[in-house]
Amino acid sequence: MEVLYRKYRPRKFSEVVDQDHVKRALTGAIQRGSVAHGYIFAGPRGTGKTTMARILAKALNCENREGVEPCNKCRSCREIDEGTFMDVVELDAASNRGIDEIRRIRDAVGYRPMEGKYKVYIVDEVHMLTKEAFNALLKTLEEPPSHVVFVFATTNLEKVPPTIISRCQVFEFRNIPDELIEQRLAEISKNEGISITPDALRFIAKRASGGLRDALTMLEQVWKFSDSEIDLETVQRALGLIPVQVVRDYVNAILAGDVRRLFTVLDEVYYSGKDCEVLIQEAVEDILDCLERDSNVYPSTPPTLVQVSRQLLNLLREMRFSEEKRIICKVGSAYIASRFAQTVESQQKTKENSQPSAQVSQEEAKTGDKKEAVNVVQSIEEKKIDRAEQEKKYRELLEELKEKGDLSILVALSLSSVSFEDSKVIVSFDSSKGMHYELMKRRLAELEDLFSKKFGKRVEVELRLLGKEETLERVSQKILKLFGQEG
Ligand SMILES: Nc1ncnc2c1ncn2[C@@H]1O[C@H](COP(=O)(O)OP(=O)(O)OP(=O)(O)O)[C@@H](O)[C@H]1O
Ligand SMILES: [Mg+2]
Ligand SMILES: [Zn+2]
Repeated sequence: MEVLYRKYRPRKFSEVVDQDHVKRALTGAIQRGSVAHGYIFAGPRGTGKTTMARILAKALNCENREGVEPCNKCRSCREIDEGTFMDVVELDAASNRGIDEIRRIRDAVGYRPMEGKYKVYIVDEVHMLTKEAFNALLKTLEEPPSHVVFVFATTNLEKVPPTIISRCQVFEFRNIPDELIEQRLAEISKNEGISITPDALRFIAKRASGGLRDALTMLEQVWKFSDSEIDLETVQRALGLIPVQVVRDYVNAILAGDVRRLFTVLDEVYYSGKDCEVLIQEAVEDILDCLERDSNVYPSTPPTLVQVSRQLLNLLREMRFSEEKRIICKVGSAYIASRFAQTVESQQKTKENSQPSAQVSQEEAKTGDKKEAVNVVQSIEEKKIDRAEQEKKYRELLEELKEKGDLSILVALSLSSVSFEDSKVIVSFDSSKGMHYELMKRRLAELEDLFSKKFGKRVEVELRLLGKEETLERVSQKILKLFGQEG
C-alpha cells in the first residue's frame, strides 16, 4: 500500500495547503511568462517545497495547461509525477554533495530540452553542497540559458552562500498552521474511511509542529495501530506517548511543590516502561498548549507556567547528555518543585505585604519580608543566567579538550554527568563507571585547575560515584528527606 503522505502529495497549486504567498508569486510568473531562472524554496521539513517544485516543473512543461495549473494527464505531467521525464532532474545534495553532479548539470544546461519546453533542476537540501560544487553552480547561475529553471530547496537557508542567494528569488515556506493541518487530516481520514475523534486529530496536528508530512506519517501509524475508532488515548498509545492525565499529575506535583507525589508519578512512568524524557517533553508541550488556549488546567499564572516550562527544558537538556537519566530526572524535578514552591511562597508574601497599603514608601519597600521575597526571586533569576553561562563554558571546555586536551579527562567527563552549584562543579559517575571515577579522583587537582581556568575563578570539583539501580530508591528517600518530606 502506498504511504499516505505520498498518496496525498498535491498535484496542482490549488491543492497545496497554505504557502499562499509562494503559490501567488509562482502562478503570477507563469501567467506573465516571466519565470525566474533560479528559485530558492526555504523552510521547515515537510511543508511542501519539493511538492511545489514538481508542480512548477509540470506547469512549465505541460502540453495542455489549464490556466496556470498542469493538466496532470498529458505525457510530460505523468512522467514528471513518475520521475521519468528527461528534462526534469531531481538531485539530492544531501547524498550527492560533490562537484561531479553539479559539473554534469553545468555541462548539460547548454543543450535544449529533449522532450519538454523547460529543463528544470530541482536540488534538494542545497545547503549540503561542497564549496567547489557551489562555485561550479555559481558559474551556471550567472548566465543561464532561457530554457533552464533551477529550484533549490533547503531547510537551512542560512547555510546557503550569499552569492547563490543573490542570484535567486527566495521563497520562504512557513510552518503550516495547526488548524490547516487538522483540516487536511480530517479530509484525508474521511477519504480513507478512518474513523477518528476531533480531539485526536487536533492532537496529531499539534504534534506535527507545522509539518504536513509528519502529520500524515503519524496518522498512518495510528491508523495501523487500531481498527476501531481512534480517540486521543489510542493516539497516545500508538505513538508511545504518556497519557495526558499522568503528564498533568507530574506538572501539578511540581506546581504544588509536592516532591512525594512527584516521585510516585515518576516511578509509575518508569515502571510502565516509558521514558522520563518523553514525560518532560510532553509536560512542556501540554503547558504551552494550555497557555495558548488560555485554559485553566493548571492553577498557576502564565508567567509562572512559562518559568516552569523553561526549567523543564533545562532539565531535559541536562538529561540528554547523561546516562543516569532516571536519577537526574528525579533530582531535577524535585529541585524545580522546591525552587518553585519557594517562588510561589515569596510571591504570595510579596502580594500580602503590598496589599495593606498600596503606597509603600521607598524605605519600607527596602525592608522586611518583601525585600527578602524580591531577593529570592532575583537570586533565582541570576542563578539561572549563571547556570546557562556555566553550561556554555563547560561545552567549550569539552571542545577544547577534544582539540588538544587530555583524552582520559575528556572521556571521563563525557561519561559523567556534570552539574554546577555556585562555585562548585559536581561530576557524578554512575556505578558502572567506577574506573573513571577512581582515575579522576587521582587527578582531581588537575581537573580543578582546568575548570578554574575556564571559569576564571577558583572552582572546587566534587566527584561522586552513584550507587546501583537498587540504591536509586535510597537516593530518592534521601532527596525526600532533603525536602522535608520523609517517607
Ligand atoms: N503544503 C502542503 N500541502 C499539502 N500537502 C503537503 C504540504 N506540505 C507537505 N505535504 C505533504 O507532505 C509530503 C511531503 O512534502 P514535501 O516533500 O513537499 O516536503 P518538503 O518541504 O520538500 O520537505 P523536506 O524538506 O523534508 O524535503 C507531501 O507528499 C504531502 O503529502
Ligand atoms: Mg523535499
Ligand atoms: Zn499536462
